Amino acid sequence: MMNQYVIKGGNPLVGEVDISGAKNAALPILAAAIMPDETVVIENLPDVTDIQAILMAIESVGAQVTRLDRHTVKINGSHISDYRIDGDYIRKIRASYYLLGALLGKIHKAEVVYPGGCNIGLRPIDQHIKGFQGLGAEVELPHGRVYAYADKLTGGHIYMDVVSVGATMNVILASVMAEGTTIIENAAKEPHIVDLANFLNSCGASIRGAGTDVIRIKGVQRLHGTEYTIIPDQIEAGTYMFGAAVTKGDVVVKNVIPKHLESISAKLIEMGCEVEEGDDWVRVVASKPLKRTNVKTLPYPGFPTDMQPQMTTLLALSQGTSIVTETIFETRFKYVAELRRMGANITIEGNAAFITGVEGFTGADVSAPDLRAGAALVMAGLSAEGFTYVDQIHYIERGYERFEKKIRGLGGRIEKIDSDDDREIRKFQMKVS
Ligand code: EPZ
Repeated sequence: MMNQYVIKGGNPLVGEVDISGAKNAALPILAAAIMPDETVVIENLPDVTDIQAILMAIESVGAQVTRLDRHTVKINGSHISDYRIDGDYIRKIRASYYLLGALLGKIHKAEVVYPGGCNIGLRPIDQHIKGFQGLGAEVELPHGRVYAYADKLTGGHIYMDVVSVGATMNVILASVMAEGTTIIENAAKEPHIVDLANFLNSCGASIRGAGTDVIRIKGVQRLHGTEYTIIPDQIEAGTYMFGAAVTKGDVVVKNVIPKHLESISAKLIEMGCEVEEGDDWVRVVASKPLKRTNVKTLPYPGFPTDMQPQMTTLLALSQGTSIVTETIFETRFKYVAELRRMGANITIEGNAAFITGVEGFTGADVSAPDLRAGAALVMAGLSAEGFTYVDQIHYIERGYERFEKKIRGLGGRIEKIDSDDDREIRKFQMKVS
């Protein structure tokens, strides 16, 4: 069965939406959760398919995984019995590489299929490998896999050539129980790096400086159990904030950390939206015509690459000409061809999109090329005239919990329907017409 989203555009998104836990924090934390020999309870997990995949992976090496409810899991890693992780479910996700760091750190041996993930660029893992080697590990790349092993891991001084979220997290994982102190220079500063460090520290690790570009990890002999709550998802929140702007709506995103959303709020204000902030909520109101701007994606605290497709979509409906420059992932503009079918006026030159605003989009058949672009196309559909059909939505389900339900809660007209079920599609069309 292949599902698609069928969307009838034209309703502004209005109301409140609860933001789930951060996928990109939960993935490394679930890998890290196998490192203590005691039980760990993790709360506020997003209920998305990438999380299901990593839970299956940690179970496959012998971790005991008990679901307490949809968002809470209990993990016990005292009987890790294997160091190899394989299987189709894990090939699809990028975050499989965190199992390298976690297993290497705990049992000094790990073999994982070469990481997959969204096809948004080359995505090499040389910095991860360099990090492991800097701690004394050997790394081999047998056919389609990564194999890392060490007799003993020793703290090292590791300078990252590029700012990498994944490599920074992996070196933290591999070094928390190494002998001596590890220093990571030019570390990534994303909120999910801080979340991983906070989680590990709550298990007894000694990590300082997470959230800055120098992180110091003093190895400890063992980690103990903990209970930990994942931070809210910055990108999910940002997507609904942009959804408000794209549909000329009024949305309050709830259970967020407004500080993490600053680069997103700042751009929306620049474009003429009203943004109001509370302790744990942000409200976006878009009542005026939107103004042009330029944006460059950068590591945190810069504008996130994971918000780039949503941003380009919004600028395509703003007055004047805007430029979006993508500096992190080289092929992250594939969705532009889909947006053009909806009437967007965008040309791509190298790593920049030149966008001339149009009055509005019209509904079309489009395909989600990856997770964030898929979400952006749904938002475009919600603002378009007529019906939009988005397929390949399994990408979207990797990272957005109950996406269509949350959108319906805001008054958006969207249904998830089997692509071959013409009857259901017609039923929905009749209902919303
Ligand atoms: C993480 O990917 C996220 N994935 C991505 O989110 C996100 O877009 C990205 O960070 C940037 O914020 C997960 O957390 C699972 P990087 P990651 O290592 O770790 C280069 C989403 O939509 N690089 O920070 O793969 C790399 O090519 C996904 O949720 C190297 O050259 O990103 C890129 O240009 C998509 N060598 C840059 O660094 C390396 O060894 C940043 O990549 C590693 C990275």
